[in-house]
Parts: sequence; structure tokens; C-alpha cells
Amino acid sequence: MGRVIELKTAVPGPASDALMARRARAVPRGVPSVTPLAVIQADGAVLTDADGNRLIDFAGGIGVVNVGHRNPRVVAAVRAQLDHFAHVCFPVVSYEPYIALAERLNAVTPGTHDKRTVLVNSGAEAIENAVKIARAHTGRQAVVCFEHAFHGRTNLAMAMTSKVRPYKTGFGPFAPEIYRLPYPYCYRCSAGRTADGSCCLASPERFAQLFAAIVDPAAVAAIVIELELGEGGFVPAPPEYVRALSAFAQANGIVLVADEIQTGFGRTGAMFACEHYELVPDMIVTAKSLAGGLPLAAVTGRAEIMESPVAGGLGGTYGGNPLACAAALAVLDVMAEDMVVERAAALGARIKRRFCSWADTDAGIGDVRGLGAMVAMEFVQDRTTKAPDNARVSRIVTAALSRGLILLSAGTYGNVIRVLVPLTAPDAVVDEGLDVMAEALSASRLAPH
Ligand SMILES: Cc1ncc(COP(=O)(O)O)c(C=O)c1O
Repeated sequence: MGRVIELKTAVPGPASDALMARRARAVPRGVPSVTPLAVIQADGAVLTDADGNRLIDFAGGIGVVNVGHRNPRVVAAVRAQLDHFAHVCFPVVSYEPYIALAERLNAVTPGTHDKRTVLVNSGAEAIENAVKIARAHTGRQAVVCFEHAFHGRTNLAMAMTSKVRPYKTGFGPFAPEIYRLPYPYCYRCSAGRTADGSCCLASPERFAQLFAAIVDPAAVAAIVIELELGEGGFVPAPPEYVRALSAFAQANGIVLVADEIQTGFGRTGAMFACEHYELVPDMIVTAKSLAGGLPLAAVTGRAEIMESPVAGGLGGTYGGNPLACAAALAVLDVMAEDMVVERAAALGARIKRRFCSWADTDAGIGDVRGLGAMVAMEFVQDRTTKAPDNARVSRIVTAALSRGLILLSAGTYGNVIRVLVPLTAPDAVVDEGLDVMAEALSASRLAPH
């Protein structure tokens, strides 16, 4: 294969500039714009911008296209569905693609117990529904989530999200009955690991102490956790922590909800991150790569919990749109037939090897981490103080973009570079992207004074 990156103009070029100028006059600044690019075509892991530049996409629509942009089988399934109907509203008349997808998600998610699935439109909406269902089931109101969590931008999901700026700035008051635990972010934990090397938060005594300061466990409907933080900086929870959390939830009648919106559908080298932990959560929330680019999200959980809300308490006009359901069924087929989970594990190892080799000589890389292909590097000004270096990350992102690679930052302090390249990207494309990353890393080093 020849080179993928093919720059016909500077990035951004004049056509992107012109569209961004129109955007600024028509769209409020609150809607973020990570790059100054306008795109006219996306295939596999490659975007073509309005100036004809071909760029490698390590953002994958923020973890939405694990099976690649415009995966041919997904495109064919959507086209075929469009020939029948695009929308009828599932609460009005039922249709097979919704039911088939609920069956598939009930089967493919962790645990062999009886399950139910409700489909909605976005990750935030699915998180809100998970909380509603847990409250209806337990008759309790409190929700426990974590520092560094990201669960979305709607009112309740925003309250559950940790990072203040930009997600919460000016948007209060926040929904009540949200309580926050420290996330087991061992790299930044001042206590360090315990004598036996395990996470200092992973014990029943620590949970009892932490809850004593925030909320009575008997009042808690749900604990919602990302097993590997997404926006929070790709931090995987240690297995012993997840085991202790799960035991605590079970002992206290609390519904344990795994937010697998970013970790799901192969990203971590398993279908779901839960599998790395042998965790069977009471509910699992999915979105993003579920429908390969179409808007769709799901809450899947134990039947007895999911059946708690009264008839009419769940759903919406568009939830489980037939085109999105057809896309999701095709995504699940592609994942099985093309062994996308296995591919993610190999891809992750390939990327991590490069990251680790850079960390050997670049003292600004404080940590390399992540499950499967959900890998990241955390940048620090100094490996001892671990002061976050978000300025370096901005320089890396800019240097990569000017060379034809789209990169995303992450982390509460904006000092993490994460990779969400489509899992189906060929090695040659990934290597080309990594070569550009290496150049961007060098270019982003400040000249010594
Ligand atoms: C872990 C996690 N939860 C929830 C959300 C919110 O999803 P959406 O943007 O579809 O509302 C996101 C989005 O980035 C996410 O990564």
C-alpha cells in the first residue's frame, strides 16, 4: 500500500478555513471543534478534507467507528433498511431490527442471566436511563460515580461527569443526590500501592470509610463506573479494585452499572472491558461503536431490574431507530466474522510497543497505559513531581495535524494523548500514523533555553 497521508495544501487549507468561518457565524462556540478541519469523505481510517488532503484518523469519531468509517457491510445494511422504512417509532409499532438487536445485546453482554435491553439515541441518554431504572428498582435515590468520570452532557449525566471546565462551567445547579468517590488512578495516588502491590482503595474497610464521609450505602441506587476512564485519560481500574467494588455493591443492594460507552465493542481487546475483570455488572451501558457511526445507545441489564419502571416510563420518539439498529446488527456481524476483538489486542500491543520505546528516551512521557487498543500516554513536566504537561500535548496534537494525523487529547488536566484508531485499520496505516506521532513528539520538545 502507498502512503495514506497525502497533503495537497497546508492543513487546514483554504476550503476548510472558509467552512470554519461560516461555522463560526452559524454555530455557537460551546460546540467544540478539536480540529479546524472540514471533512468531505471518510473511509476505513482515512479522512479526506475539503481541500483534498488525506489524513489518518486516530480519533475514529471519538471511538465510534471501531469497524472503520463506512464499513461496507454497515453501509449495505443501512441502505437495505432504508428501502423498507426509516422511522415509525418503536413505541407505536414494533419492528424486528430493534428486537433482534436487543436479543443480540442480551446474548453478547457479560453474564448468562435473563436480560432486557432498551435502546436510546446517545450515551448520555443511556446513562440517564440506567439511573432511572436503578432508582425505580431499588426505591433509592443516590448515585455514586467517580472523580475523572465522563458520562455525558445532559443534565443528570453532566452532574455525574467530574471535570468542571468546560463540561459544567455556568451550567448549575446540578442534579442532586450525586456522590463521588476517588477513581483508582494509581499513577496519581499519593498513597502509592500497598505493601503487597495492590491498590490502596481496594478493601471493604476503605469503602466503609469513604462512604461514611459521603452517603449511606443503604440510600444508594447505583454505582456507575468506567472500567477504563475515557475522557478522564484512559486509566484502567486495577482488577482488585473492581472486585472489591463489586462485592461492596452486592453486599449493599446497590445496582452496579458499567459505562462501556467508550470501552465497548472490542476497543480494549475484549468485546467489553468487563471481561478483563470477570465482572458481570447488573447493567451495562453502550453507545458509540455500537452502530458504527449511526446514533444509537443501549442499556442492557438483569431482567428483574430492567422490568422495574412502569409501562411508558422508558423510550422516546427516535430510540432504536431502524437504520441505526440495522447498522448495529451489521457491526456485530463484522466483529464476529472479522475477529475484530483479536485484532484490537494485536493492534494495542503494536501501538504500546512504540509508546514504550518513546518513553525510554522521552522524560516527558510519565505513563504508558491502557487495555488492548485503548492506549494512551500521559505527559508530565517532571517524572518526580508529575506536574501535568498539557502545553506539550497541545503542541503534539498541532504538530501531528499539520503532518496529516488527527490525534485526540484526554484527561482532567488535558495532558494525555489517547488513540481511538478504527480497529480494522491495516498495520501499514497504523504504522504511518505512529511515524507521524514520533515526528510530532520530537517537534513538540521545547528547545533548551
Ligand atoms: C464513557 C462515556 N460515557 C458517556 C459518554 C456520553 O456519550 P454521548 O456523547 O453519546 O452522549 C461518553 C462520550 O464520550 C463516554 O466516553
